[in-house]
Amino acid sequence: MALALQAFLVALCITAFHQNLADAKVSKSMYLTWGTQHATIQGENLNLVLDQTSGSAAMSKRGFLFGSIEMLIKLVPGNSAGIVTAYYLSSTGPKHDEIDFEFLGNVSGQPYIVHTNIYTQGNGTKEQQFYLWFDPTADFHNYTIHWNPTEIVWYVDSLPVRVFRNYENQGIAYPNKQGMKVYSSLWNADNWATRGGLEKINWTGAPFTAGFKNFRARACKWDGAASISVCAATSRANWWTSPIYSRLSSGKLGQLQWVRNNHMIYDYCKDTKRFNGKMPSECSKQQF
Ligand SMILES: *[C@@H]1O[C@H](CO)[C@@H](O)[C@H](O)[C@H]1NC(C)=O
Ligand SMILES: *[C@@H]1O[C@H](CO)[C@@H](O)[C@H](O)[C@H]1NC(C)=O
Ligand SMILES: *[C@@H]1O[C@H](CO)[C@@H](O)[C@H](O)[C@H]1NC(C)=O
Ligand SMILES: *[C@@H]1O[C@H](CO)[C@@H](O)[C@H](O)[C@H]1NC(C)=O
Repeated sequence: MALALQAFLVALCITAFHQNLADAKVSKSMYLTWGTQHATIQGENLNLVLDQTSGSAAMSKRGFLFGSIEMLIKLVPGNSAGIVTAYYLSSTGPKHDEIDFEFLGNVSGQPYIVHTNIYTQGNGTKEQQFYLWFDPTADFHNYTIHWNPTEIVWYVDSLPVRVFRNYENQGIAYPNKQGMKVYSSLWNADNWATRGGLEKINWTGAPFTAGFKNFRARACKWDGAASISVCAATSRANWWTSPIYSRLSSGKLGQLQWVRNNHMIYDYCKDTKRFNGKMPSECSKQQF
């Protein structure tokens, strides 16, 4: 009896796990939407290419609401000034939600900027920027977004670099009612990206390639409005609702502080000039 029950529970867990796992391969879960003449998607690998004719982009077939969205990315090496590689989640419509990782290239030997942002109900202006503590062009690194009803955490190689907490009950919008798809793109942003647009793309180095692989969405599949409560429900299958993910552990908080103290270069919450003293309301809340 006990054994049968145990076997049943194990089977239940396995089923629940599989239900929340999107098709593992990039080629099964994403498709090219731009620059299809030169970008490639095969097995676990997605290569985005930029040349003078166009950049390229891919997106996921389905949308998600909460979970862990992982991608391993190897950025454009050498002189990547003016080039932006993006990896983000976004819903559609005028009041869209969006959670961003963007990588702003640089001239050889100078550091990339990791630019993060979040849009809630169509409103962005929540940028934080970082330098990395490794060369992101030498190898693939893990860029993951953990998103649950209480907070969103941006991870780089499992170190939390940013947290956005849910203060919806205090009138601050939080992305929890719109499914988001996953997007990757490589494009020319030399009007603003590198040293504020001073460095232009040197096309001698083209075509430029950014590698993406091992896309993994351990996430709740968005199936329309019913998902709003289904994906937020506290249950074992909805692992992201477990209390251990509602706040970073003290060890993870220490890592976040290390990143902020040593690698952060911009925080909108400290930009009093920009907001003319009228800071966004979440800036006065406990942020992590
Ligand atoms: C990537 O990082 C996330 C967040 O820390 C982690 O859950 C996941 O296991 C990592 N994936 C790989 C392939 O290392
Ligand atoms: C590029 O390098 C310059 C000089 O080190 C630095 O000021 C800048 O933040 C770097 N990144 C970008 C994207 O401009
Ligand atoms: C562009 O790159 C080529 C090859 O590395 C180099 O010879 C040339 O000086 C660069 N052009 C500019 C404008 O920096
Ligand atoms: C968008 O956010 C900024 C900063 O938080 C705020 O000043 C502005 O009023 C917001 N705009 C809307 C339309 O909510």
